[in-house]
Amino acid sequence: MRAVVRERYGDPAVLRVVERDLAAPAGDEVHVRVAAAGVAMGDWHMVAGLPSVLRLVTGLRAPREHGVGLDLAGTVEAVGPDVTGLRPGDRVLGCGRSAFAETAVTRAGRVAVLPDHVAFPVAAAVPTSGTTALHALRTGRVGAGSRVLVLGAGGGVGSLATRLAVLAGAEVTAATARADLAAALAGFGAAVVDRGAGAAALGSGYDAVLVTGGLTPLADLRALVGLRGTLVLVGAEGGGRVLGGLTRQLAAAARDPWTRQRLRSVVSRENPADLARLRDLLASGDLAPVLDRTFPLDEAGAAIDRLASGAARGKVVLTVGGRAGDGDGPGVS
Ligand SMILES: NC(=O)c1ccc[n+]([C@@H]2O[C@H](COP(=O)([O-])OP(=O)(O)OC[C@H]3O[C@@H](n4cnc5c(N)ncnc54)[C@H](OP(=O)(O)O)[C@@H]3O)[C@@H](O)[C@H]2O)c1
Repeated sequence: MRAVVRERYGDPAVLRVVERDLAAPAGDEVHVRVAAAGVAMGDWHMVAGLPSVLRLVTGLRAPREHGVGLDLAGTVEAVGPDVTGLRPGDRVLGCGRSAFAETAVTRAGRVAVLPDHVAFPVAAAVPTSGTTALHALRTGRVGAGSRVLVLGAGGGVGSLATRLAVLAGAEVTAATARADLAAALAGFGAAVVDRGAGAAALGSGYDAVLVTGGLTPLADLRALVGLRGTLVLVGAEGGGRVLGGLTRQLAAAARDPWTRQRLRSVVSRENPADLARLRDLLASGDLAPVLDRTFPLDEAGAAIDRLASGAARGKVVLTVGGRAGDGDGPGVS
């Protein structure tokens, strides 16, 4: 089977497609024939090996794992002897090792069965971004009646957080610089403002402020949060090569004990409960990710470049082996 790999860190041009053999699944392993794989900023970080603190986990000089990609949707190809509840032929969404491949290896707890009417590219756009959004909303204690600002609402995490906060009954302000996504975010049920229009346009006194990007100083972000509200730092690009946007998260952790505001960071990991919830919301039509465009597997580098450059208007998805059209659900252009 064909898989996208990289043997060294670098820009997405280091990616190659190679032939790989897979051993039969062992234990609770599941092999998924990938139909669509979601692209996220995390993939760029894994390919670049930046911020370099990441390399303590992924390999200091070169990546230990050569495969790339996490989010997937496809069909179960084979299951290990300990797997119950999944059979070859089942449609699934979830996360796996080296998802940018014709077949990905994962574990039974990392995928959920997907109904026939949800298209694979739609499902592949959701696992990591959706789980992170749910985690951020829980961190911000977002519920019915909460006043929430999503600062950076046009990206993968921000757009899903906007919709999920509305579904939770919150009053949501979605701040984005992507004017062409304003209608979609308004359709999610949020009030949309221009992220660059200044502090007065953003408002203040929020119960929760979710920040998905940028390097806006902590003091400026705190000015948006109510006295007992929560600042939720999801991510940030740029910053130093060693710590990147983590510097602000460390500053927030240091300040948190000394203020009535809660200053929190999100470190999200997919889990069966969130995956099942996201699957159910996709199935009911309550959640519909904004999709940008699809790329074939051989153009994984271009797909990551598109996301990292800020050009994407919604989630970027790889379609694999012409299978993405399987299913009758809404597709992508
Ligand atoms: N903590 C975790 O567990 C976790 C999990 C997943 C992702 N992340 C990180 O979260 C970040 C967002 O991920 P993503 O997949 O949503 O990326 P994405 O799709 O590329 O979106 C980038 C987001 O950053 C926002 N942004 C850019 N500059 C900003 C600024 N100056 N102020 C506020 N927002 C700004 C954009 O807002 P506009 O709408 O205005 O364009 C957009 O929403 C990334 O840094 C990613 O690495 C963290």
